[in-house]
This record gives sequence, C-alpha cells and structure tokens, in this order.
Amino acid sequence: MSQLEMFMSNAGPPSAHALAAQRATALRAQLLDHSYRYYVLSQPVISDAEYDALTRELREIETAHPDLITPDSPTQRISDGISEGFAKVQHPQPILSLSNAFDAADVRAWHERIRKYAEQQGISGNFDDLVVEPKIDGLTIVLTYENGLLAQAATRGDGNIGEDITANARTIKSLPLKLRIENEKLKMKNYPNSSFSIFNSKFSVRGEAFMTLAEFEKYNIAALAAGEKPLANPRNGASGGLRQLDPKLTAKRPLSILCYQVLEREPRAKNQDSREEHPALSTQLSTLNYLRELGLPVSPIAQRFDHLEAAIGYAENYIEKRDTLGFEIDGMVIKLNDLVLAKKLGYVGRDPRGAVAFKFPARESSTILRAVQVKVGRTGAMTPNAVLDPVQVGGITISNATLHNYEDIARKDIRIGDRVVVKRAGDVIPYVAGPVLAARTGNEQVIVPPTHCPFCGTELVRNEGEVAIYCPNPDCPGKLDRAIEHFVGRGAMDIEGLGEKIVAQLIDAELIADVADLYRLHKDALRELDKFGEKKAQNLIDAIAASKERGLARLLIGLGIRHIGEVSARDLARHFGSIDTLMQANVEILQQIEGVGPILAQSVVDWFSREGNRALIEKLKAAGLKVTSNEAAMTTQPAVGATPAAFAGKTFVITGALSKPREEIAAWIEARGGKVTDSVSKKTSYIVVGESPGSKVAKAQQLGVTILDEAGLLKMSE
Ligand code: IVH
Repeated sequence: MSQLEMFMSNAGPPSAHALAAQRATALRAQLLDHSYRYYVLSQPVISDAEYDALTRELREIETAHPDLITPDSPTQRISDGISEGFAKVQHPQPILSLSNAFDAADVRAWHERIRKYAEQQGISGNFDDLVVEPKIDGLTIVLTYENGLLAQAATRGDGNIGEDITANARTIKSLPLKLRIENEKLKMKNYPNSSFSIFNSKFSVRGEAFMTLAEFEKYNIAALAAGEKPLANPRNGASGGLRQLDPKLTAKRPLSILCYQVLEREPRAKNQDSREEHPALSTQLSTLNYLRELGLPVSPIAQRFDHLEAAIGYAENYIEKRDTLGFEIDGMVIKLNDLVLAKKLGYVGRDPRGAVAFKFPARESSTILRAVQVKVGRTGAMTPNAVLDPVQVGGITISNATLHNYEDIARKDIRIGDRVVVKRAGDVIPYVAGPVLAARTGNEQVIVPPTHCPFCGTELVRNEGEVAIYCPNPDCPGKLDRAIEHFVGRGAMDIEGLGEKIVAQLIDAELIADVADLYRLHKDALRELDKFGEKKAQNLIDAIAASKERGLARLLIGLGIRHIGEVSARDLARHFGSIDTLMQANVEILQQIEGVGPILAQSVVDWFSREGNRALIEKLKAAGLKVTSNEAAMTTQPAVGATPAAFAGKTFVITGALSKPREEIAAWIEARGGKVTDSVSKKTSYIVVGESPGSKVAKAQQLGVTILDEAGLLKMSE
C-alpha cells in the first residue's frame, strides 16, 4: 500500500505485521520470477548473491513472523523431520514406458509399423510431424499441482502406484513450488471455449529427475575428501537422493528435473480428453511450451521435424554431442507431435505406439578382469592397465582399460578375476570403475604392486605424498614411447600426424631412440614403413620441421621435466630467455622466480645435471631447434570489452580438462590480471576444475580454496 492509498483508505498506518506480510509476498513473487528466469529460461537477470540476499530477507521476515510462512515459500524447500517410510500414491493414469530402437533402421521399422497399424485400424493423421527430445537417464517423477501449488510428487513405482516423495522433490531447486498462474490465465483467455484449466482440476505432470554431471562430480570430490563413499554414477545419485527418508540428505546431492508430459485424471469432468479440450495440450511441442510458460523446466533441445529422416538425423547427432549437455542421456525419444493421434494408437503392453526411444550405445558395461599389465609413463610412473574380456562400451569394443594407480586398485579392492565395471565417456580413455562385489566367487586374486621395473629391473620408488610408483632409471627403455608421445603432443611441440602408432613404428624400426632423432628423419626411410606413402612421409617431415620454431616454453614442456607444467614452463622461458641460461641456474636462482618452489627448482637442476640430458639438448640445438623464448606467441590479448583487472591479486590453479587447452585458459586469466600457478597452496585464491580433475582438488578442499568450474570462472570475470 502506498502512502497515498493509506491516507485515502483512512485505515491508519499499517501495522509492522501487515508491512512484513506485504514485503514477504513481494519477495516470494520476485524469487519465483528469478528462479524461473534462471532455471527455465536460462536468462538470469540478477546474480546469485543478489538472489541469496532476497532469500535471506524473506527468511528473516519469516523468522520474526512465523505465521507468515506459506508452503510455497522458497525458504520451505527442505523440511525438518525424518519420515518412517513413503506413503503409496495412485497415479492419475498409468505411467507408461517406451519401446526401444537401437539404430536408425529400428526407428524406421517402428514408423512403418505404426503407419500400417493405423491403416488397419482406420486411424489417420500426420505421422511425419515429429518431436525429438533427449532421453534423460534419470527417474520419472509424477508431480501434482493443486490450485497452482505443488501438492505431491511421486515415484513411478509399478506404473500404477508409486511412492510419495514430496518432501524430497521439494528440494529440487528448479522445480517451482508454485506455477506461474498469470500465464495460465492469459492463455485461457485465448481459448474461451475450453473449460479445462489447471485450476479447476488437479494438474499432473511427468518429468525426469536427475543429477547433472557437475553436481555429480562436485558431490564425489567432496565425498572422497571426507572419506565417504562416492556415487557410482549420476543416476544412482538421483535415485538414492529421492529415496532418502530425511530430505536434508536429498538436498545434499542437488537434483534437477525436466518435464515432458501432462498426465490426465480419469474420469475427467464431462468425460473429455484434455488434449481435445485444451489446444495447448494437443501437440507435444505445444505441451512443452505450455509447461515452460507455467514455469516448469523443459528440455532446451527438444525440436520438431516434418519428416522422419530429419528427426533421425537430429537424434543421431547427439551420439557425438551427448557430452555437451551437462547431464547423462541414454538416447533420444522420437514422438509423434500430434498427441490426439498418439492416443488413438494406444499401446502395446506398457509401451505407447506413438513414441520410440532411440537408445545410444551404453558407456558403461561390465566384463572380467583377466590380468594387469604395467605400463610406464614418460615420468617413469608405473600405470597398471587392465586386460579385459572384450566388451562393447559406448559403441566400441574394449579389451584394455586403465586402472589409474595401485592405490586406487587397493581402495576399490579390484582383484584379478573380478567382474568389473568399465566406463567410457566422450573421448575420455576407458577406465575400470570398480568391481561388481556381488559377482565374486572367492577365486579372485589380490593385485600386488610390482617392486621392480618390468622394463629395466630397477627397484621402484614411491615419493612421499604421491600415489604413483616410479622407475627412477632415467634411461629406462620403457619410458621411450611415452616420452616421445609427450614431446610431440599438443601442449608441447604439437607435431601433427605423429600418433601413438607411428611413434611405436618409428621406435620398432630403430629410426628413433630419443626425441632429437625425430629431426634427423629422412623421407626415404619413412617411405619404407608400412602404410607410408610419398605424401604421408612428406607431411610428417614438414610437420616435424615446423615444430622447430615452437620456442623454449613448449620445449621445456616437451622434455617432460618433472613438476614443470605449462605455467612454470612459461615463467622459466620468460625469465631466462634461452636454454643455455636456464641450464646454468642453480636452485637458489631458480627459486627467486615467483611460483618456482624448492621441488620444481631441484627437479630442473637434477634434470640438466644429467649427462644424457645435456647431450640431448646439444643434439636438439644441432638439429636447428629454437631454444630461446617465444613468449609473444603464447600470450593472448584481453578480449574486447573485458575488464582487465577482474582477477587482479588473485591466484588460480587449473586442473582437469576444460573446453580449451589449459595454456589458453591460463593466458585468458593472466590477461585479466590474475596469476596462474601449478600447485595448490595457501596462497591459491581459486581452483578451476574441469573434467577428470586430479588430486589438486582434494588439497584445495583441505586448504579451503574456492572451487570454480569453467562457467563460474567466466561469471567471475564479468
Ligand atoms: S516419454 C508416454 N520422454 O525413459 C510417455 N520418457 O525408457 C513415455 N525418459 O519411463 C515416456 N526422458 O522415465 C519420455 N523425454 C522423455 C524421456 C523419457 C527420459 C524415461 C522415462 C521412461 C523411460 C523409458
């Protein structure tokens, strides 16, 4: 009420309570609007901090005036108390499943089948009007709104009767506790003949609850740091979360939801079908739009097509693109857009005829672990590798997978003979996730870490604080492949066309025995090799020659000196300018450089003190490699419109795979005044965590360093 209204109403000044009530209502409306913009439209207009401040204000009012609390208040998502079990809930209509197609031919067969069926039954309609949606790998939730307020959430159960998990579903932040009523009212004005409204009946919606990959990783990082059991996969995380008897535990693993179906209640008033009665519900596409308008999250990538092949093409695209979504999908769903037609077609068993799941190859499978082979890395680290019974994972056959390290094997208690779970995501190399304990027979053998290098017999060492065991022999022949692969890799000398196989071929043919030999390769020698023609040989020679100009920083990375990362390589190159000066530096001089600690300094001195390494440098120089600093090529100019000082005074550590090479991200941070270092310390302000991060995250957590993902980093720069 404005001052003027107060005066006119003659009601005297409103009480503190009335003012508080007014403010609480306004705050709730604002918060509802902001979470809609954030979760449904992905277009937030305020920052997280501002959102938190509004929530705090509301909470303070509600603490002072508990009678003002409403069930749809955003402060009321997590309820107190532990329930003893879940009550049974009858679904308004059977919760159907989907029939599966495993490739494009299966999808075409489905389409053909339902067309024929329709013809036989005298049903007509447009079968080429299709909607394609992601098939979210989560759990179905049935939501019921009464008068626009979330009244109940239930699991699928047996399809007819589910379990009441309302308290847990309320913790899903993107799920509105209240629908956007204004939009419904507006919409109904457009349909004067329709008596259907979400407000004159219970309104039930079906959605899929899931854990995003970011939340899954965050949860597991924290669980590992706290010595707790990590989640096996996001799906288990979501299903376990929804089954907690204490909603506070559900809230600890934040879930998301995407809605895709309006369920009907039978018998309906006037025995009518809402799809015929309410034009907004007559097609799948308009249903999705309608749900979005009501404030419910729907998939941002659902699309309509007007012929089957286009729909198949779109679905198939996501086999490659599934990793860009941020949540796991196990396929795409192709649905007839005309829901009236779909309903007429009915279902077979539990599968509606009007839709089909185009399933993608599973990225997780299980097989038997037959043996463990040791591979030696370029640093001498021993990597245990699993020899597996061949199994299909993510569409390719896998018979080898990494076991990371021996500590991991012991922690997960992986044994030879075990049935093990093998995973592969995107271009991540396949790895053994853990044993299937229920499949143990008792004949499995514990895996014992080696004590001596299988390649040179040297006794292996383990550095304090590290999990890996190393072969300390600098000339160990087992290291050669990896050392060369590292040298030619993208972050280092970046020699195109020199993959693992060709490196092995060159070593086997005794054409190379160290990295400098690459620069002495002759086209004629290459042409003698299997599968090498004139063109391929020339391309490789050209690519090798081009790499001579990469400069000192890249060369330092390529040489694989322990503890030198992209950041320290650049610092060293910038500081010393040439390899000759660097080679003469002692530990004290090296440590004068910011970011260079005693371990790195010692490692550099040790490396250059070895006769073999000094000879290698001479050989590289003789081959014409540029051994001076090339810094200009490595620094990125700040982007137009960037705030150069956004990161001033802040120190960052980057771990895991981000969307761009780490070097580029580091340059981007530096262009904004930040500093990037290789290791986490008390001085670190932020750790930027990408996919498959390393042990740095646990350390950051111990030290209380703020953890950011790439999106968080971008946001900070604004
Ligand atoms: S439609 C009549 N659409 O996949 C409607 N289901 O394998 C039938 N699922 O039980 C379901 N994303 O839990 C549909 N966009 C989507 C979906 C989806 C995930 C799940 C759902 C269903 C299962 C079938």
